[in-house]
Amino acid sequence: MRTQRFITGLALLTGVYTTPLAAQQPLNFTVKAGEVKTPVSPNMWGIFFEDINLSADGGIYAELVKNRSFEFSSPLMGWSVPKDAVSKGQILVVNRKEDHPSNPRFARITMPVTRSFEIVNEGFRGMGIKAGEQYNFSVYARQQQGSAVKMTVTLLDDAGKAIGSATVTPEGGNWQQYKASFTANATVPKGKLKVAFEGSGVIDVDMISLFPQHTWKERSNGLRADLVQLLADMHPGFVRFPGGCIVEGRELTNRYQWKKTVGDVNDREVIMNRWNNEFAHRATPDYFQSFGLGFFEYFQLAEDIGASPLPILNCGMACQFNSAEIVAVNELDPYIQDALDLIEFANGDVSTKWGALRAKMGHPAPFNLKMMGVGNEQWGPQYVERYTLFAKAIKNKYPEIKLVNSLGPNPDGDKFTFLNDTLRKLHADILDEHYYSSPEWFLSNAARYDSYDRKGPKIFAGEYAAHSKKGGNGNDNKNSWLCALAEAAFMTGLERNTDVVVMASYAPLLAHVDGWQWTPDLIWFDNLRSYGTPNYYVQKLYGNHKGSAVVPILKGNEAISGQDSVYASTVVDNASGELIIKLVNAAATPKPVTIAVQGVKGLAANGRLITLGSDDLLGLNSLDQPTHISPQEKSIAIRGKTIRTEVAPWSFYVIRAKINK
Ligand code: AHR
Repeated sequence: MRTQRFITGLALLTGVYTTPLAAQQPLNFTVKAGEVKTPVSPNMWGIFFEDINLSADGGIYAELVKNRSFEFSSPLMGWSVPKDAVSKGQILVVNRKEDHPSNPRFARITMPVTRSFEIVNEGFRGMGIKAGEQYNFSVYARQQQGSAVKMTVTLLDDAGKAIGSATVTPEGGNWQQYKASFTANATVPKGKLKVAFEGSGVIDVDMISLFPQHTWKERSNGLRADLVQLLADMHPGFVRFPGGCIVEGRELTNRYQWKKTVGDVNDREVIMNRWNNEFAHRATPDYFQSFGLGFFEYFQLAEDIGASPLPILNCGMACQFNSAEIVAVNELDPYIQDALDLIEFANGDVSTKWGALRAKMGHPAPFNLKMMGVGNEQWGPQYVERYTLFAKAIKNKYPEIKLVNSLGPNPDGDKFTFLNDTLRKLHADILDEHYYSSPEWFLSNAARYDSYDRKGPKIFAGEYAAHSKKGGNGNDNKNSWLCALAEAAFMTGLERNTDVVVMASYAPLLAHVDGWQWTPDLIWFDNLRSYGTPNYYVQKLYGNHKGSAVVPILKGNEAISGQDSVYASTVVDNASGELIIKLVNAAATPKPVTIAVQGVKGLAANGRLITLGSDDLLGLNSLDQPTHISPQEKSIAIRGKTIRTEVAPWSFYVIRAKINK
């Protein structure tokens, strides 16, 4: 079995199977540590966040109640009335769209005589509950005249046993928020929330919510701390949000509109998530966007983890794979205004309309927005026409903002070439290239940017992932070590060319094991646990060992980019005074390497060697074995100015050596 896996993986990488050989002659490399090629782009190694695979609702957004405001297309989706409660009362969903267009529906519970009526929320594939943790319940409610109904909320374990409870007693005929907290006494991965109404009369309820007290930075309306921690640990240079195709929508009505995602959470209009019905075989009928995680929270997340915000806005075009709907050019102004207003929301003084909203939401200081994407994976002259109008208006008012442009969904072909040629002529700032390709593609494209025009627009490798099956579209594509290794090799080429490639992000970022639509994904989670894939550890190693300036590593006079199946790049880190060497061995045989370091007085006798690898190219991490393939660290002895190591088969090494001044 193991041999078979070896052969399959190796064949995927090299097309041939070779028996591991005895030790070979060392490869002789030279690092010119005194010759700075370029500073490392400060935004290098970022993250791409999209609400796909239950990433937001049901994922990083810590709300446990699904369809809390009864706004799903089927208003009671996620809610049920237990059999023995059916005869004790009635639930109706009232729609007051004219009065309250952003949150039209609420539930009306009627109990003609004193009884206990119950509704139960199933959560997002259940509710992950932890023993000893505090949970915060809240609800908006009003009593109809003469009614006296109290509400008891109870967390139930998988068997229906109570594991925590609290009571609120709403009073009066005006909507008011009521809150109660309680501690759970058991850990369950798939709990439920029972809401019991006791008394008689009529009570209206809306925004029935349950959050863990423990969220990232203990914020109310907060994010799952374990997931944010995994992101923070990557030390990302930027956070791109909110996607992806979700920016475009299947149709324009379904597009992402940032203004509807800020302000009071109760007034954020719920819409269907565009991934809800994208893939028939991975249908997710309960996938909606509550926008509890909205643009304010995205900016805050980026700030929290020390990353630059990179919002991507709809440019008047819906997804061209789906509906190809575009807004008429003479009706583009509101879309452009959204972009201008977003800059004001992020950076504007608190005396401005949108700056004031940011301050009201708790962040008077600017978010320091420096760049913005216009459109996601758009293509064709219709994109250029719309982008040009956006660019004119934005540059006119905010010349300092850099714009990110689409180059379409592929890294080559007619769509790519048309946009690449056109946008270069238009002196675009940053071009967004996407590649979801085979591991072989990544290995053979590590030199892609070596010959890119140094004077033209910068490149954002905005979405990439090695796919061992064709297409990510709902296929069960695994986050294997093979894919991660190929990405590590390719990334040496990104790092080497960071004067051109100023940002890069793996995509997509997050996936719920019970609710995904797209694979592979960087981080997987269930309701209680989460883990980084081997691909995650590759990204993390680059983010944590980013350095400050690229220096050449050569074999003879050539950059090392796949010769003898070895890939390499080198940076120096001015803050720590270290040389950082990244080496990838994509072969089945060990590679002895001798690296002569020039341009330094000397190197400390002991360096750090961080290795990531597996002898199983199809090896995976999992919820049960979250760090099966993860970095290991040891020290490495250095003699004089020469570093010697043997890079194990199918391995990624990071060597850090202190430079003696
Ligand atoms: O990352 C998943 C999807 O891939 C993104 O939404 C889209 O931009 C790309 O096609």
